[in-house]
Amino acid sequence: GTKTLKLNTGNEIPVLGFGTWQSPAGQVEKAVEAALKAGYRHIDCAWMYGNEQEVAVGIRNSGVPRKDIFITTKIWGTYHRRVEEGLDDSLKKLGLDYVDLLLIHWPVPLVVRGEEKIPVDENGKRMLDQERKLSETWADMEKVYESGKAKAIGISNASQALLEELLPKVKVVPAANQIELHPYLPQHDLVRFCQAKGIVCEAYSPLGSTGSPLLQEDAVQAIAKSKGCDPAQVVISWGAQRGVAVLPKSVTPSRIESNATFVALDEDDMRKLNEIYQGSGKQKRFGMPAWGADFRFDDWKVPGA
Ligand code: A2P
Repeated sequence: GTKTLKLNTGNEIPVLGFGTWQSPAGQVEKAVEAALKAGYRHIDCAWMYGNEQEVAVGIRNSGVPRKDIFITTKIWGTYHRRVEEGLDDSLKKLGLDYVDLLLIHWPVPLVVRGEEKIPVDENGKRMLDQERKLSETWADMEKVYESGKAKAIGISNASQALLEELLPKVKVVPAANQIELHPYLPQHDLVRFCQAKGIVCEAYSPLGSTGSPLLQEDAVQAIAKSKGCDPAQVVISWGAQRGVAVLPKSVTPSRIESNATFVALDEDDMRKLNEIYQGSGKQKRFGMPAWGADFRFDDWKVPGA
């Protein structure tokens, strides 16, 4: 679990990160503590997950020094016009004075209405802040980067089309793009594009998220059997070997521990895992595109850079 990738800031990011999305309050504190005790040195958080205060307790209880941990959090859609305020709130909840990586959670600015996280209008439609350009939010990300409160800045859920629109407008190239990545959704082209631009890809839902049949796939099972390891380790190691950071989530101590050990996959294993997505009839994307039915990931331009 000590393998790292180099960010375009010069800092290293541990390939193995611990996911905290959908970890219920009351469990995430213990899970984070268990992860740090099992050797994870990278915790992936977000303001939106609503559990940063508990993550903080887990970090404290682990006894692992803050400086030895890579901590990410994310700016929610309702904070695109107040990036620093969003970061400050996360820092307060996490009990930190800086994060190692700050991401724009979704490149979708949302209207602010009270404390609502996803404001919805009377027709049930998500209320997007159509006037806000992503490049403006990025300029504010650059400011908190310069302030030192975020040691690196990046984005999440960005398509190639969106990055192509954004990159000519930035001073600081995003250090990372955190996207849904697993063998059902390998996004080979997007990963290659980001790698060519020096942007580290991070895999969320690397196990296919909760309840997915991914770990039962024949190829995954066969490789696990031949290595005498867990199917989850096969899928996590596939991600690590293709050069992306992998953020498995679990609240189960035995899984937290086994997910932290990579296995060596040969070229043939990698090829089989790379091709799983080509099978027909598989649900490929599990992450919630929370922005309504007209939202298209592949030519993501809502509302544009
Ligand atoms: P749990 O948290 O109850 O242990 P992802 O990281 O893709 O979002 O997947 C998370 C889901 O996968 C959770 O439901 C988690 O369950 C489950 N999970 C985590 N590690 C393993 C594992 N080693 N084997 C099987 N399921 C796992």
